[in-house]
Amino acid sequence: MTDNVIIFDTTLRDGEQAPGCSMNLREKIEVARSLERLRVDVIEAGFAISSPGDFESVRAIAGAVRDCTVASLARCNAKDIDAAWEAVKVAADPRIHVFIATSPIHMEYKLRMKPEEVLEQAEAMVRYARRYCPNVQFSAEDATRSDLDFLAKVCAAAIRAGATTVNIPDTVGYTTPIEMRERIEYLRANVPGAEDVIFSVHCHNDLGLAVANALAGVSGGARQIECTVNGLGERAGNTSLEEAVMAMRTRPDLYPVRTRIDTTQIYRASKTVYSVIGQKAPLNKPIVGANAFAHESGIHQHGVLANKQTYEILTPESVGVHTNNIVLGKHSGKHAVEDRLNDLGYHPTPEELEVFFQDFKELCDKKKNVTDADLEALAEQRAVLDEVEEEGGYELDWFAVHTSNFTTATCTVSLLKDGERHQDVALGDGPIDAAYNAIDRIVQPGPHTFNIFNIHSISEGKDTLGDVTIKLTSEGRTYTGKGLSTDIIEASITAYLKAMNKLCAAAK
Ligand code: KIV
Ligand code: ZN
Repeated sequence: MTDNVIIFDTTLRDGEQAPGCSMNLREKIEVARSLERLRVDVIEAGFAISSPGDFESVRAIAGAVRDCTVASLARCNAKDIDAAWEAVKVAADPRIHVFIATSPIHMEYKLRMKPEEVLEQAEAMVRYARRYCPNVQFSAEDATRSDLDFLAKVCAAAIRAGATTVNIPDTVGYTTPIEMRERIEYLRANVPGAEDVIFSVHCHNDLGLAVANALAGVSGGARQIECTVNGLGERAGNTSLEEAVMAMRTRPDLYPVRTRIDTTQIYRASKTVYSVIGQKAPLNKPIVGANAFAHESGIHQHGVLANKQTYEILTPESVGVHTNNIVLGKHSGKHAVEDRLNDLGYHPTPEELEVFFQDFKELCDKKKNVTDADLEALAEQRAVLDEVEEEGGYELDWFAVHTSNFTTATCTVSLLKDGERHQDVALGDGPIDAAYNAIDRIVQPGPHTFNIFNIHSISEGKDTLGDVTIKLTSEGRTYTGKGLSTDIIEASITAYLKAMNKLCAAAK
């Protein structure tokens, strides 16, 4: 029997906690659904005590997801654990994940606790969590900079108290593959009760070794990997789910293990996560970057034509990348569009298809050839729509900009709301700033911070769609707006209006 490696996804906790990656509730649910389709075993939905918003999203995800374990993080104290349990208890399979730091530097300067106190606290709090839930994970934060004997004692205490998973985090991305493998081997051989629990690894990528260290953990006997889609996470990120999973799948000779992951959903999940945070995969990102399966040089092309395996160790299809890029256009009918969406992994309801087809037709008026990338962008945009948009709010009627490199840009904006027209004009540092100033004059939003403005082209060519993401924050909540158009000023205005509508609706 081949061993199973549990895939514990922490995109919604460790990933979301990284600067520029915050998500609102609706976006988190969207990502959670993607993770469920991907068939991860465990979704770490958040850190319930950290804010009311986090608590609500952990609870909502616990209620929405049926096919994965849902975990909430908690420090080793009763209040955190109470909140974690309150948030995850509705899950089909809830897990409480408690952690405490075990390295000398963290214990002395962060916790201001003696090692014996940490040991005692870890044991008491795992026991406390077990009173609520049979599925308790214990993490020894900064484990790879902890004294090995002390780490073994803490793990033994956690197991005595009822932990079912023991996680060894490389919190600061400091370890190396050999060291990680040896550490896991040592703990499995020397911690009393080790045979009754799953050992797990959680590796940060500060030295670019996260995936290698996680795989080394598996070689040492870890049977859970903590990871994130696209490798999001604190600082340089976390173990990338898609890289770790595909490495194990591609090298069964080295990793005689299996996972539950439906690898054909990897590309779509990656796109969803990038779309939610308003980023795009770097071209050379393994597995999901645009160049990951591109063969440009003559020698490589020649080899691939003769036999794909000369330069391809895994197929694009195995991760859900479709290389038969069928181009649609204004003569394509609804069925052709639906077929293509299905091939790309999207299965809209008849009502959703109707709306999608309108978007598609509008795009065809502006762009002759609609590619898979365009269809995916339209589909992802629809997926992150907010109910506020459906209920109303401001809509763009028209805009006019005047700009040059020797005058101040001016923009006049006309917006519609509840059948009424609102118009204003403003100056700005460039046409987009001018447009946003005009919108502000009409909408008069409350205090907020403008956090992120990202713009990407979806495909190649001058008529490509511009994809704009905007994130505004107010009182700790994030409001995202996305705009997609062949005209980047229009896309920027649409994205801003969507974020503004959400901000204003929340302020009511
Ligand atoms: O990096 C880390 O140590 C963590 C723990 C809370 C598991 O994220
Ligand atoms: Zn971490």
